[in-house]
Amino acid sequence: MPRPYVIMNAAMTLDGKIATKGGDSRISCSKDLDRLHKLRASVDAVMVGAGTVLADDPSLTVRRAKGKNPMRVIIDGTARVPPGAKALDNSSKTIVAVSRRARRDKVKNLQKVGAEVIQVGRDEVNLALLLKKLYERGVRRLLLEGGSTLNWAMLSRGLVDEIRIAISPRIVGGTEAKTLVGGEGFFRVNEGIKLELLRISRVGEDLLLTYRPRGSKC
Ligand SMILES: NC(=O)c1ccc[n+]([C@@H]2O[C@H](COP(=O)([O-])OP(=O)(O)OC[C@H]3O[C@@H](n4cnc5c(N)ncnc54)[C@H](OP(=O)(O)O)[C@@H]3O)[C@@H](O)[C@H]2O)c1
Repeated sequence: MPRPYVIMNAAMTLDGKIATKGGDSRISCSKDLDRLHKLRASVDAVMVGAGTVLADDPSLTVRRAKGKNPMRVIIDGTARVPPGAKALDNSSKTIVAVSRRARRDKVKNLQKVGAEVIQVGRDEVNLALLLKKLYERGVRRLLLEGGSTLNWAMLSRGLVDEIRIAISPRIVGGTEAKTLVGGEGFFRVNEGIKLELLRISRVGEDLLLTYRPRGSKC
């Protein structure tokens, strides 16, 4: 079934963390933030997990580049993001994808602030089906902006076509600090998702690596 072309983007420290143990995720240098905002302006929708909305309260808009704000998509099985979250403000349309576990009152509160709530999936959000629905709504290019759990869910289901990682020249350590990809993980290295390196470039003080997962269906 047709689905949008999915670009996963993240800023990571050299030791693979996308936030510190204290939850600080401001990893990108200023030039990399400019790049991210340009990238946002080039896609139809930006997608994040509920964990990221709760941790960072991002607005997911285009502020450091020219272009329009993309649609926002929040993956939130139980509708736990607060209606006052910045990603639900009126700067662009927001879709909240929930599962059947979401309570009706919480769904109503999200609808009251203008979000479109789509129920896809029973115990968790069915990401493949959601992408199909987004495609039907005209989304052709989608930017996945994390976090760790959603990155795993998308990658392990073969739903990512391109990966762009800005590596910051810092090491923050911390066993509890979130890494680029969390989730269940693979047992053996040779089960891991094989990537093809497409580009290496410098963005300010960061190193930008672009990969394509082998077996990407787009
Ligand atoms: N440096 C960067 O580039 C960057 C970018 C983004 C985020 N971050 C960091 O990443 C951290 C957040 O990551 P996180 O792992 O806690 O949360 P997350 O990946 O943003 O959100 C995960 C949540 O999404 C919901 N979900 C619903 N259906 C799902 C499905 N099919 N698959 C996966 N998730 C599903 C789950 O909540 P329910 O069970 O309630 O549905 C799950 O707990 C924060 O510290 C943030 O700062 C860093």
